[in-house]
Amino acid sequence: MDYSWKNLNNIYQHVLKLGMLSPPEDVIASWLLFSSKPRIDSFLELGSYLGGGIGIFNQVLHETKHSNVKFTGVDHLSFIGAKATNSSGAWYTDHFNRCLSAEELESLSKLSTPDDMSAWIKERCERLTNTPLSVTSVLNEREALNQQYDIIHHDYGDGVYENLSTIHNCIPALKDDGVYIVDDWCTGAPLRTWATVVAQQEGLLHPIMWGKNKVFFAKSPEAAQNTIKNICANANYNGKLFKFMPGSDYFGSGYATIRMHWQAMQWS
Ligand SMILES: C[S@@+](CC[C@H](N)C(=O)[O-])C[C@H]1O[C@@H](n2cnc3c(N)ncnc32)[C@H](O)[C@@H]1O
Repeated sequence: MDYSWKNLNNIYQHVLKLGMLSPPEDVIASWLLFSSKPRIDSFLELGSYLGGGIGIFNQVLHETKHSNVKFTGVDHLSFIGAKATNSSGAWYTDHFNRCLSAEELESLSKLSTPDDMSAWIKERCERLTNTPLSVTSVLNEREALNQQYDIIHHDYGDGVYENLSTIHNCIPALKDDGVYIVDDWCTGAPLRTWATVVAQQEGLLHPIMWGKNKVFFAKSPEAAQNTIKNICANANYNGKLFKFMPGSDYFGSGYATIRMHWQAMQWS
């Protein structure tokens, strides 16, 4: 797929079809980041939901020469069987109706275990993205912390303490040069956003790049600045759409961060 800003509308349609809960600009930011990393083998998604995000990340990773990534998806799966029991509320039902076919809805309602969910996500993502996928589902983050990850995508949690607890639990499982992506870094998850500020002050998160709703962090200032250098050296880097953020020396002398100019992508 073309992941440049020129293809924003098609990326948006793909995001809707997969059921990824993300703006398409963030797919472009992720593509820039993934294509700037020398090696990505392992990816933990905290909040795997229907697997739409995993499917698109996997596709982008394949297309940026990371073709053997093992995904681990964490989700308590309270929405499994939601159609049958009608127990998980209208929000899921509305979104399911938007992105799932009648057959997919029917098969989803019959799942009962994390292994069932892995198989369902794998089949659906491979069919819709034409890309092989390796995914293992677990019910809570503690079950996923027995290995180290290149990328962690934090996509659940409401309150400040809940999100800080997830950051405290999961940062030790991030490789030294890994990237910790926090989703809904906006009014979509205001207290998760707040938790990342506290975590930065605790020395756990060091910002690299602001996408639209996703923010990319490293676990050390050195790793953050190395990633910035790699992004700038990337042939896909467009300095007009990914701009240096004035005032980043708040994080240390000479420290640089990048912000995606997503407004300019929308205007174009
Ligand atoms: C916003 S959705 C994730 C969307 C997905 N990452 C995507 O890109 O399409 C959040 C998911 O996290 C799950 N969830 C929320 N809190 C959780 C927790 N503490 N442990 C495990 N799963 C949780 C919910 O069941 C829901 O499916």
